[in-house]
Amino acid sequence: MKLTIIGAGAMAMAMAKGLEEQYDLEFVVRDISKVDSNYSVYRLDNFDISDKNIILAVKPYALASVASKLKGEADTIYSVLAGSSLEILKENIKAKNYIRTMPNVSAKFETSTTVITGDESKKDEAIEIFSSIGDTFWVDSQKEIDIATSVAGSGPALLALVAEAMMDGLVKEGMKRVDAINITNSLFKGFAPLIESNHPAIIKDSVMSPAGTTAAAYGALEEGGVRSSFIKAIGEAFKITQR
Ligand SMILES: NC(=O)c1ccc[n+]([C@@H]2O[C@H](COP(=O)([O-])OP(=O)(O)OC[C@H]3O[C@@H](n4cnc5c(N)ncnc54)[C@H](OP(=O)(O)O)[C@@H]3O)[C@@H](O)[C@H]2O)c1
Repeated sequence: MKLTIIGAGAMAMAMAKGLEEQYDLEFVVRDISKVDSNYSVYRLDNFDISDKNIILAVKPYALASVASKLKGEADTIYSVLAGSSLEILKENIKAKNYIRTMPNVSAKFETSTTVITGDESKKDEAIEIFSSIGDTFWVDSQKEIDIATSVAGSGPALLALVAEAMMDGLVKEGMKRVDAINITNSLFKGFAPLIESNHPAIIKDSVMSPAGTTAAAYGALEEGGVRSSFIKAIGEAFKITQR
């Protein structure tokens, strides 16, 4: 099956790696010099999308301008645009089916967390396509994909903040930067199977001993309002998708 990716930015190229193992990819961009010459690349102007399966990966603000340069009716639009509703997609680009997805840059390693919603008739196909870049989660409403955006889409940036703060804390107490980076990175790698098989509260209880190091660290995090900041952060990201 052929997939046409419109846009060649960070997200498009992160997805391309996993997708190209199973799909024949072509790119449609405004500047063809930006795409690796190993791919088929077409200029955006007057591009015919008739009967094509399109992965739309441009910035949300560019939707109308990009749409005005396309002609024909696509088979399916698979949009990765944060906060652009199915209604907005329908107003701008003609297609028989519409799907919204929210992947993340871990797609580069085929470990994206991709939340999907849209036309039920394309549910199986959407799940199959996006499974080639990692885990997929179908949700039944646009509200849910908008809520999930902060964790599925922005999640790597939020976890990066935690990782960087841990590294800085280690350095502040006197560790070499390189050791701080390696130790923190190893923690993230090792944590994935742990969280998959244990509820977070169980992990915390199993690590925290009375008056111990974890209890002291937790106390500082609670004093700093880290838990409520994360909850607020997810709410703020959701608000942006509703503008
Ligand atoms: N980055 C993420 O982690 C992430 C996660 C989930 C979803 N998304 C979604 O993915 C989409 C792309 O984000 P990104 O991070 O990949 O952004 P990006 O790296 O800035 O890439 C944006 C792409 O859109 C193109 N573009 C922008 N304005 C255009 C216009 N007026 N006409 C034609 N093409 C235009 C850019 O072309 P030029 O190179 O020529 O400027 C580029 O190919 C966004 O809608 C975002 O919501 C991103």
